[in-house]
Amino acid sequence: MIARRTRELGAYCEIVPFDTPWSELAPRTPAAFILSGGPESTLVEDAPGIDPAIVTSGVPMIGICYGMQLLARELGAELVKLDHAEYGPATLQVAERATPLFQDVPGEMRVWMSHGDSVVRLPAGFSTLAATQRCSVAAMADPKRKIYGVQFHPEVMHTENGRTVLRNFLREVAGLADEWRMESFVDSAIDAIRAKIGSDKVICALSGGVDSAVAATLVSRAIGEQLTCIFVDHGLLRKNEAEEVVGAFRDVMHLNVRAIDARERFLKKLAGVSDPEEKRVIIGHEFIRVFEEEADKIAGVKWLVQGTLYPDVIESKTPESKAGHKIKSHHNVGGLPEKMNFGLVEPLRLLFKDEVRELGRVLGLPEAVVGRQPFPGPGLAVRIIGAVTPERLDVVREADAIVREEIDAAPLEPHPWQYFAVLTPVQSVGVMGDGRTYANLVAVRAITSEDGMTADWARLPHALLERISSRIVNEVRGVNRVAYDITTKPPATVEWE
Ligand code: XMP
Repeated sequence: MIARRTRELGAYCEIVPFDTPWSELAPRTPAAFILSGGPESTLVEDAPGIDPAIVTSGVPMIGICYGMQLLARELGAELVKLDHAEYGPATLQVAERATPLFQDVPGEMRVWMSHGDSVVRLPAGFSTLAATQRCSVAAMADPKRKIYGVQFHPEVMHTENGRTVLRNFLREVAGLADEWRMESFVDSAIDAIRAKIGSDKVICALSGGVDSAVAATLVSRAIGEQLTCIFVDHGLLRKNEAEEVVGAFRDVMHLNVRAIDARERFLKKLAGVSDPEEKRVIIGHEFIRVFEEEADKIAGVKWLVQGTLYPDVIESKTPESKAGHKIKSHHNVGGLPEKMNFGLVEPLRLLFKDEVRELGRVLGLPEAVVGRQPFPGPGLAVRIIGAVTPERLDVVREADAIVREEIDAAPLEPHPWQYFAVLTPVQSVGVMGDGRTYANLVAVRAITSEDGMTADWARLPHALLERISSRIVNEVRGVNRVAYDITTKPPATVEWE
């Protein structure tokens, strides 16, 4: 989140592991360091630390939360464990108005805290910039050495003026101009792709999603006809989606696309399978098989384009023991290459999702592709609870089309981030005309979210919910009841599976 905010402020940044030595960083001539927070305590024996040479490097730096405590410890301050940790909102009283860090912020503001330890005696050369009721050193600085620390979290939405504080550090302290722009990224990315690939042949699996579409378009700008894209229609896409995306790839993005109709193959493999993880594995494997068969038909391919994003790169660098638990295996065109003998071209590996969308717009991709909702790789198969059949696919596809049509047409603020229909195996009694029905329950899910990691259910207007419900029961055969999902994530996930 800190990195995203920093880039939003026009400063390019990368995340490196905390134990990266200065000798590795120095050759890259960093303009500034931001030391992030973390769940540990600096007071325990083997607390994660940084190379002291970073602290004495003379590069401007700011420590946030644990980062500030780490700086304080390195520089000889005294820290204590608080009797009661300080979590959540607190009122920050700015003590030093003249500091560049607090330029354009009020003397008092609400900030977000999350710490169990506190700095109680400052390191030599430092002064206190701000305090809260429970935390006497909520911000500190040694302006001569350009070392700053904040105990609160400027990167979170709940901290007032957090963005300004971060901007002040970048501009006023580190002297960084607002100059990280997608337009300049495009030129350097195209040069890098050309240099890497030369005159070789390249393939790319298109999923219909934003990432692979943007990656393929960028590569095709660089090397044109040397790139062949493969689009596998597994029959689990939304209504009209296969035709729409292939149309956009060919006619708007001018990609060289082979569209493979593999619908029968996937349906056969999925016959009788109800377990969600099993569905995901089957679809993932079958996808690779189809892709390999098609790739084999093109002679002399040396490279594979992948839409890997920065969060995946960061995650794969996180040590196993510290990584989160696996909740669901995610299938994307991602996991392709291990068995295949291709080099990888990952032109988006330093970008965040929002930046990929922006890049797509800069490249002139249609809004239907760039603004596309996130959609699971295994598609509608995970939105049918229980076995996947052609009939059940039709039901969920029609219901989903209604949900999207109605919500797309509604002037909602904020517009939900993702919305769809789920076909449940629940059957219940209904009455239609003069007859009793016994038919399926469809659930509607609409969420607000920033990245899908956490989500709230969207407060849709009742009139809109009514229209969605009445259209589904009237227009979709086999459905006589509609429920709206009002659970947040956590504890629920976005997809039902
Ligand atoms: P969950 O259900 O895990 O979903 O809360 C979080 C977000 O991820 C999307 N999702 C996927 N995206 N490949 C993807 O690219 C997948 O296999 C996959 N499964 C879930 C989901 O739609 C939501 O936006």
